[in-house]
Order: sequence, then structure tokens, then C-alpha cells
Amino acid sequence: MKNNRIKRNWRVPKGQELTELDKKVLYYQEKGYLVPTRKLIKTPEQIEGIRRSGVINTGVLDLIASEIRAGMSTAEIDRLVYEYTTAHGAIPAPLNYEGFPKSVCTSINEVVCHGIPSEDEILEEGDIVNVDVSTILDGYYSDASRMFVIGQTSPEKQKLVDVARECLEVGMQAARPFGFVGDIGNAIQRHAHKHGFSVVRDLCGHGVGLEFHEDPEVEHFGRKGTGMLLVPGMVFTIEPMINMGTYEVFVDEEDGWTVVTEDELPSAQWEHTFLMTEQGLEILTY
Ligand code: MF3
Ligand code: CO
Repeated sequence: MKNNRIKRNWRVPKGQELTELDKKVLYYQEKGYLVPTRKLIKTPEQIEGIRRSGVINTGVLDLIASEIRAGMSTAEIDRLVYEYTTAHGAIPAPLNYEGFPKSVCTSINEVVCHGIPSEDEILEEGDIVNVDVSTILDGYYSDASRMFVIGQTSPEKQKLVDVARECLEVGMQAARPFGFVGDIGNAIQRHAHKHGFSVVRDLCGHGVGLEFHEDPEVEHFGRKGTGMLLVPGMVFTIEPMINMGTYEVFVDEEDGWTVVTEDELPSAQWEHTFLMTEQGLEILTY
């Protein structure tokens, strides 16, 4: 019986013998679950490439961790990212991406993400800042971000930073092979709400590796057992943006990039690139 509601993403080339993986994914597909395309399953060679890209990406973030301080402009962070990345034979993925003018996103306090580094923006004691680094090495993409607290911040902002980090961890733990993308978002949402915070809905994690943004969309909220099937070999980010107040955000009209909370209360985000394995997620950006 043909079920036209099924989106047949998983296609095995004619005449090719079915692997165990094919059989397993086809079983879910026939039951009506959304499954990835076969192209989203990375080959061992591709995984190695993304892994090597991730090593440089992590090197960038470690460099920023050691250099970031009060009195520094976000343009200085941008220069450090550009210089380290290119010195290691790689390219900063944000630079000229859909017109983005800099090599990294720097998002302070009420800025949720996609903040543009500037000479005029000086880090101050008590700021919480997300530095979002993405690297292309030999055509392979990796993507990760961390929060940095400048000196000491308020207990509320520190808690937001900590809970956002925990949200990434619970999301990671919730992702099982042959589970669903919705399991991740559900775990994140529960953890954020438990602490009285909200989850940004307008931006999500994403497949990554051969391009900057691939399928699936990884929402940071949702219901268990919904969304795309998680299959070993998939590579994607989880990058929850957690707000102190409302989840609603807007994009700065002047620059077309900077995403800000509607109520101008602070926001925090942590991100890693992950490989789904038979055992669960492996971090490729440590
Ligand atoms: N690094 C962001 C992400 O996590 C994307 C930034 S796009 C840019 O998906 F153009 F703003 F850099
Ligand atoms: Co990302």
C-alpha cells in the first residue's frame, strides 16, 4: 500500500544492496517517521575533515578564552579570530556569509546572537558575551560558541549563563541514535523552564559539515518523538539561546543581523558541533 503522506527522504540507488543501516532507516520511513536523506550521513572521510576543522575552531575559542577581558573591543576579538584561523590554513565561515561583514559573532547581554564586532563596542565588567566561532577547513565546516563572563557579573546573569550551558548538556544527553530531534528540544525546554527562563524559538541548531547550514533544523523546544530521526553519521549543532525574560526577539533593522531580546533582558547561548554515533553524541568541537 502506498502512503503518500510519507516523505521518502531515504533513497537507495537502484541495484545497490541494502545495508543494515538502510534496512533500519527504511523501517522507520515506512512507519511514517521523518528520516534524513542518505546524503546527511557523513562518510568516515568527511567526519575526519569536520573533526580537523573542529580542532581549529576549538583553538580559536581557547585563544579568545585566554585573551578576553574588560576594556577590549569586540573588533579585537574579530582580529584574533581572523588571524588564528587563517594562520592555521582555514577560513572563518561567517566572513562574507550572506553579507556578514566580520569573522565571528559577538553577542553581549541582551543581544541573543549574530552581533557584529565593532571598534566602538568595549567589553565592560559584568558583561556576559557569546563568541560564536565557525571554521571552514578544506571545505569542511565546524561551529561552536561559548559564553564569557567579564570579571564578575550579577548572580542572575551568572545563573543564566550556567543554565544555558546545562541546557546544551541535557540536550546532548537526550539525543540517542534512532531517537528524534524533538527529544533534544524537549529536554532543553524543560530544563530552561525549571529555572524560570525561556527558550528562543526563532533560531535553531542545524546540520553542518559540508555546508554551514544543512538539514535538520534542531529546535531547542518541542515534543519527544517528533522531528527527524537521529541516525549515526549525522553531524549537527545544538545551540540553545536561553532568555531571562520573554523568548521573543527582533532583528536590528539598521544592520540586518543583530538579534536582540524583545524586553532587552539578557540572553545566553552555548553551542557545539556533534557527531551522532551508535553510542550517542560525540562532541567534535572540544
Ligand atoms: N554561527 C551561527 C550559527 O551558529 C551562524 C552565524 S551566521 C553569520 O549557526 F553570518 F552571522 F555568521
Ligand atoms: Co550554528
